[in-house]
Amino acid sequence: MPTMPATGAAAAPAEVPTTPPAEVPTTPTTAVPATPPAEVPGLPTTAQPGVFSPESARKDVPILHRTVNGQPLVWLDNGATTQKPRQVIEAVSAYYSAANSNIHRGAHTMAREATELYEAGRNAVAQFLGAPSPDTVMFVRGTTEAINLVAQSWGRGHLGPGDDILVPVLEHHSDIVPWQLIAEETRARVVPVPLTPDGDIDQDAYADLLSARTQMVVVSQASNVLGTVPPVREMTALAHRYGAKVLVDGAQAVAHMPVDVQELGADFYAFSGHKLFAPTGIGALYATPEAMAEMRPWQGGGNMIESVSFERTTFAPMPHMMEAGTGHISGVVGLLAAIDWLRGFDQQAVAAYEQALMSYAMQAMATVPGLEVIGSAAERIAVMTFTLAGHDPASVANWLDKDGIAVRAGHHCAQPALAHYGLESAARASFALYNTSGEVDQLVASLRRLQEAGPGAEKA
Ligand code: ALA
Repeated sequence: MPTMPATGAAAAPAEVPTTPPAEVPTTPTTAVPATPPAEVPGLPTTAQPGVFSPESARKDVPILHRTVNGQPLVWLDNGATTQKPRQVIEAVSAYYSAANSNIHRGAHTMAREATELYEAGRNAVAQFLGAPSPDTVMFVRGTTEAINLVAQSWGRGHLGPGDDILVPVLEHHSDIVPWQLIAEETRARVVPVPLTPDGDIDQDAYADLLSARTQMVVVSQASNVLGTVPPVREMTALAHRYGAKVLVDGAQAVAHMPVDVQELGADFYAFSGHKLFAPTGIGALYATPEAMAEMRPWQGGGNMIESVSFERTTFAPMPHMMEAGTGHISGVVGLLAAIDWLRGFDQQAVAAYEQALMSYAMQAMATVPGLEVIGSAAERIAVMTFTLAGHDPASVANWLDKDGIAVRAGHHCAQPALAHYGLESAARASFALYNTSGEVDQLVASLRRLQEAGPGAEKA
């Protein structure tokens, strides 16, 4: 078996026809000027510009250096969640060690510091998304909550009998179910937009389905199951001609490509921190000022009010009106640190590296007998969902796990997308900036061993 000059440890599979992606040299990016309090060591300050290489990212992420089942971990489940750099772990720890306080409501130093940190996080998110102002950013638990928030706080007042919500068949259940719930209440309709055989959104069908009835279009900037990157900007522009709003689900995009919500023309943009190297339980929703003006409170409580009496309650201005109760302050601290960390790398270089890694993986996976990759859209992120003849997807994941390789198996919360290919389940390898061609080689070598061992080998 020939050895490849790969990044990482494994031997190369036979017949892999390409060279692995080289490190992508980069120029440093501008630091995030959101400035949290300086007195507490370990809290995020500003991005440290640096040259991108997968190794430079890997060395920051402690968990990538553990073993699983006696093998070095190969984390290829980034679509489900990403691993955390020490900068994020240390920022959260420093917050709880030295800066913990509730925000907004205390007239003391630490409440002020916590408030500054929280708002620095909002500012960093706004800059990261290309949003015009931090006031357009609401903190939520994650993408799912963001979409439910829009469905409830915007949809309830704007949807009625006969209105359409267009949702491509490609979408995650989080882009479908919240709209089904509100559609049931308002007697609106959720209308599926079909896919092409390649797994692209059928743009002709989309254009045909748009009408004066369309109130909302929901579309992911990148699919969690097929990796498809649809032409969101064009879709948004077309939807706006009919007066429809567009919600862009950025859960699978934010860690893998530069995002500019204004350039996309998104009315709403949602993402989850944990898919962006930050903790779980924190995410953000962007809305244009015009869209915000059309939103009503969806949860009531503290922090979202201006004054309360039994006669009349008035609400805080946006975005605070959407943030009832105590927010996930340490989550925001972690998110700020994660954005700082990611912005320390050139985002174009990261995207180019992941694309090169994906091309390499596609060619390497093609050498595994009986392996079929699902979807072949022209524009894709580094997500490969696949089936392996003779083995069910859960067994494939179990086999890989014995080799320390983590992939997801199942319906990937995208049952209609899999059904488009006549499938109920598949395995998925999803990559991030710290993955290497050596890890692709390990994945391919393990899958080849499984095929050589034959059906049922994974149960042995
Ligand atoms: N939405 C996540 C995934 O695709 C959980 O795995």
